[in-house]
Amino acid sequence: MSDSVLQILFLLVSLLAQASRAAPKLARPNCAERCGNVSIPFPFGIGAACFQDDWYEIVCQQNNTLPILNKIRLRVLDISLPDYSASTNGMISVSVPAIYSNSSCGGDRVGGPVSLEGSQFVFSQTWNVFASVGCNTLAILNSTGSEVVSCRPKCAGTNISQFSACSGRNGCCQTSLPFDLQGFNVDFKEEGGHQGCQYAFLANRSWFLRSDSIDLYDLRLNNPFPVVLEWGIANNTNYALDLNSTYGGDIEMPFMQCYCDRGYGGNPYLIGGCQDINECEDLRICPGTCVNKPGDYDCVQGRKTVKFILIGVGAGLGALLLCLFLWRLYKYIKKRKQINLKEKHFKRNGGLLLQRELSSPEGNVEKSKLFNSKDLGKATDNFNEDRILGQGGQGTVYKGMLTDGKIVAIKKSKVIDEGKVEQFINEVLILSQINHRNVVKLLGCCLETEVPLLVYEFIPNGTLYQYLHDPNEEVPISWDTRLRIAMEIAGALFYLHSAASIPIYHRDIKSNNILLDEKYRAKVADFGTSKSVSLDQTHVTTVVQGTAGYVDPEYFQSSQYTDKSDVYSFGVVLVELLTGQKPISSVREREGKSLATYFINSMEENCLFDIVDAQVLKEGKKEEIASVANLAKRCLNLNGRNRPPMKEVAMELEGIRKLQHASGVQLNQEDREATQSYAAVLKPSTSLHADVIAFSDAQPFLPIATW
Ligand SMILES: *[C@@H]1O[C@H](CO)[C@@H](O)[C@H](O)[C@H]1NC(C)=O
Ligand SMILES: *[C@@H]1O[C@H](CO)[C@@H](O)[C@H](O)[C@H]1NC(C)=O
Ligand SMILES: *[C@@H]1O[C@H](CO)[C@@H](O)[C@H](O)[C@H]1NC(C)=O
Ligand SMILES: *[C@@H]1O[C@H](CO)[C@@H](O)[C@H](O)[C@H]1NC(C)=O
Ligand SMILES: *[C@@H]1O[C@H](CO)[C@@H](O)[C@H](O)[C@H]1NC(C)=O
Ligand SMILES: *[C@@H]1O[C@H](CO)[C@@H](O)[C@H](O)[C@H]1NC(C)=O
Ligand SMILES: *[C@@H]1O[C@H](CO)[C@@H](O)[C@H](O)[C@H]1NC(C)=O
Ligand SMILES: *[C@@H]1O[C@H](CO)[C@@H](O)[C@H](O)[C@H]1NC(C)=O
Repeated sequence: MSDSVLQILFLLVSLLAQASRAAPKLARPNCAERCGNVSIPFPFGIGAACFQDDWYEIVCQQNNTLPILNKIRLRVLDISLPDYSASTNGMISVSVPAIYSNSSCGGDRVGGPVSLEGSQFVFSQTWNVFASVGCNTLAILNSTGSEVVSCRPKCAGTNISQFSACSGRNGCCQTSLPFDLQGFNVDFKEEGGHQGCQYAFLANRSWFLRSDSIDLYDLRLNNPFPVVLEWGIANNTNYALDLNSTYGGDIEMPFMQCYCDRGYGGNPYLIGGCQDINECEDLRICPGTCVNKPGDYDCVQGRKTVKFILIGVGAGLGALLLCLFLWRLYKYIKKRKQINLKEKHFKRNGGLLLQRELSSPEGNVEKSKLFNSKDLGKATDNFNEDRILGQGGQGTVYKGMLTDGKIVAIKKSKVIDEGKVEQFINEVLILSQINHRNVVKLLGCCLETEVPLLVYEFIPNGTLYQYLHDPNEEVPISWDTRLRIAMEIAGALFYLHSAASIPIYHRDIKSNNILLDEKYRAKVADFGTSKSVSLDQTHVTTVVQGTAGYVDPEYFQSSQYTDKSDVYSFGVVLVELLTGQKPISSVREREGKSLATYFINSMEENCLFDIVDAQVLKEGKKEEIASVANLAKRCLNLNGRNRPPMKEVAMELEGIRKLQHASGVQLNQEDREATQSYAAVLKPSTSLHADVIAFSDAQPFLPIATW
């Protein structure tokens, strides 16, 4: 009780001290910091000498209430600076009009297509979608870059004003942007003789969640849409950057960024722009008393300093304060109780251990983030049942939107027992270090809840299993796509086996655990049963787990899981890709329920081409198909030692794909990067030395149909 009293007084004192500190400057001296309710940080600016170059010039119209980005004449809704802890680039939200198929529909292509060429801005892939409204007309986003995206809204009835939500089937469709979009136009292709109005636009994807987005179907509305641009600065520009800041670039972006360092906030593009953040305002940060320092803070245990302050302040503030204080005390104790509970969970779930690892100097684990339970509750609408993506024995996966608009998948793990805490934390640290384009990224976790929550990137296009075996899939999957997916999975597994800091055996490779992103790139997911092994170990002995149809028969007998057991499971996936058949099927009663056996038998009887998927047979050359089948056969060898290592599998698939492309299509940039990513083996680091680790993770993410 008296402890709480002291802490409150201490808090009041530090609040007073805080108030006397100067607010950080956002704009250059003698330049306006705001226009209307939008704040304008340098390099943006209003008036001569206030902005970096004419791309950053803002004019403030209509009695200083309406900010316009002068170069492209678009209204500015918001400008934000890069944020290191949230790993977001600088962003500027602007109002962009829709593009209409026919000017008599209400739109007159106001302002025409927008071009950002020559600027340090791109249309944000993360934040925006390309959407089109109308019936049965293909809208093609015709960009200056290489990649073109399109979507075609279908209409079930004819009265589209009755629809809601933009799902593709109901007069509105949406799709992701290419990542480096700097300009675009829209081509409309009418189909089925349908005449009528149609319009297309880019928009901040959160916009669709608004209740009034139903106006979408008023085809004559002609309102502008909020669109997010990510901005940076040119590599070669001379900026006077703040000393407490870091300069760098995101490899995918054509521009550079400057961030205020950890513990500082404000505008890094101005000297003195980054100012210390008072971490102590966050009550959860310290169990004891918190003392703020430049760029950092200390947790003090002793009570002496506090008492000293109590005497000084107590004399000064007197009775008036006491009233205020009693009222606050009541609120505080109520809050404190909640915080204590959170702290208890946090400790039980290994939070202190994780915090120590995060703050250790050699840890390159900064990217894994501790989320707080309140934000995640908000993100998932308090774990609303509507948000469930998948459910299973080990936990539940929810779809959520963080306060910054990022869409994530949140896994509520099952309860972990206290003895396993250290292993759980180690696993979080290891997984958050895995940075491979074909492995689902762990963004962070939350330990304040009774069971730990894991936050992953959201992968929209379902699983490979659904893609291969969904009878409703209209478009047959091309041979090239199958090969690419196989190559991507193999690359990811090779990386997990040898390039990550500690070898990681996935242990549950199956088409159901391969997710597909918006471009149908494979992402390996669900490390529910993964084990990482210390470098001198070659296998782990465990109770046999896995999925029927995929489990290595050798492991089944010996209970010893090796890297070659993953190779076996990969072999089964490869056969699935080749034949389009399910791993276990009772339809194949006569030939064998297990796809692996069925496949091996067919190979031995020389009737491989009888069981290969029709589309593969149509598009693939016989020798290519045979090479892949032979590779699959080797992966499925009953003796693990005779199976090729993942490296060889990945290289061989790459070789086959290269040959295929040599005779036709060029490899595009993305493919080249993908193949390079496993050519470069990272140096193994032993800073996170782990023995066998059990990691309580949940079910694969399932996408929801309406997104
Ligand atoms: C900013 O101002 C505009 C018009 O003055 C208003 O519509 C909008 O709601 C304001 N936004 C905020 C965040 O205050
Ligand atoms: C600007 O403000 C003045 C005085 O407040 C007002 O008379 C005028 O109509 C305003 N102009 C615009 C364009 O809003
Ligand atoms: C545009 O719409 C008008 C009126 O609906 C129609 O007469 C005209 O043919 C349309 N133009 C084109 C190019 O579709
Ligand atoms: C859009 O496509 C047309 C051909 O349909 C082409 O002439 C034009 O240059 C393209 N526009 C852009 C911005 O690429
Ligand atoms: C379409 O639906 C709206 C609202 O339900 C209704 O007012 C309108 O008459 C309908 N139009 C047609 C052509 O059915
Ligand atoms: C996108 O829209 C949402 C909701 O209107 C808003 O909260 C968010 O800040 C916007 N994103 C950006 C980067 O401006
Ligand atoms: C920026 O310039 C430096 C040196 O001039 C160069 O090393 C670096 O690769 C450049 N970065 C980008 C993203 O162009
Ligand atoms: C960072 O900012 C603080 C003031 O908050 C200043 O004392 C310190 O010197 C700065 N650090 C560097 C490296 O400039």
